[in-house]
Amino acid sequence: MRTVFWDYETNETKMIDQRLLPETLAIAAYHRHADVATAIREMVVRGAPAIGAAAGFGMALAALESKAADAAGLRADLEAAAATLRVARPTAVNLAWALDRMLRAAGKVDGSADDLREAMLNEAQRIADEDVEINKRMAEHGAALIEDGDTIIHHCNTGALATVDWGTALGVIRTAYEQGKRIHVLVDETRPRLQGARLTAWELQQYGIPYEIISDNAAGYFLRSGQVQRVFFGADRVAANGDVANKIGTYMLSLAAHDNGVPAYSVVPTSTIDLSLAHGDEIPIEERTPDEVLGLHLLGRRVAPEGAGARNPAFDVTPNRLVTAIVTENGVVYPPFDVNLKKVVKS
Ligand code: MRU
Repeated sequence: MRTVFWDYETNETKMIDQRLLPETLAIAAYHRHADVATAIREMVVRGAPAIGAAAGFGMALAALESKAADAAGLRADLEAAAATLRVARPTAVNLAWALDRMLRAAGKVDGSADDLREAMLNEAQRIADEDVEINKRMAEHGAALIEDGDTIIHHCNTGALATVDWGTALGVIRTAYEQGKRIHVLVDETRPRLQGARLTAWELQQYGIPYEIISDNAAGYFLRSGQVQRVFFGADRVAANGDVANKIGTYMLSLAAHDNGVPAYSVVPTSTIDLSLAHGDEIPIEERTPDEVLGLHLLGRRVAPEGAGARNPAFDVTPNRLVTAIVTENGVVYPPFDVNLKKVVKS
């Protein structure tokens, strides 16, 4: 089953409600683009490529919602819908990338409002289908970096759930495992929302890949004691110089990997590479509600004393010097990233 998809019988955008996993596998259905924006903000759907695909289908919904009788009127409604969706989450550039692609497609339609409605759904479906195909290509490139017998630390969730299907960094691990390589994954639990302990563990269990969950704080211990051969993570945005914005904790993990000579790989579709930003300090970092830090948020249970404050940046930036290589669907990119990333991004 895909993480995000269009139901052609009901004309709805559907997605796995990731807030409920691993206890419950439930599908949420939306017929209004504003509700898709809310679903992205509240992390019903999450992971940079999945957010992009959801936004594409959100635009297809907006086209159906619009009462515009002509294409010009519908285009204006689509611009407004894109503005609503664009601000749902700030760090994953795949959101803006998908919306810009949808608006470009809308601009090319020379026909009626209904032609435009059809074109919007077709383009959203193309974004979703391409995501799966791109992930499989990345996985082939990345799997070549994994050796038989490797123990790998993986951060956050970058699997099928973070994309339309298959995944980025976890897709690489899955492909290497299917190639017959014996792999063990140490799954960072990924505080505060526990994408590792809840979602990555759930996926690895289904694929039959051996894993153990570790607290994020334990990664340094395992790296320093020589028990880890490789570190893999995804990214929400990569700047032109190869600085990588990813789930909070990626920077500390990469520092510890670097200090111990363990290679750290970021796996991204080229839609996650933002050549318009010179370096990672320009990447907007989402700060979420303190409630996620003050307790076991998803269980609705508070841990900190009443009145305690908290800070909750959802992402951090790993400087390019700590990144061994960036795996894309067009090949593995090594430093100097400012020169080599340009070569894999289609203009
Ligand atoms: O806050 P989330 O769960 O949306 O964060 C997701 C990540 O940080 C992933 O590592 C990233 O989107 C890349 S996964 C394809």
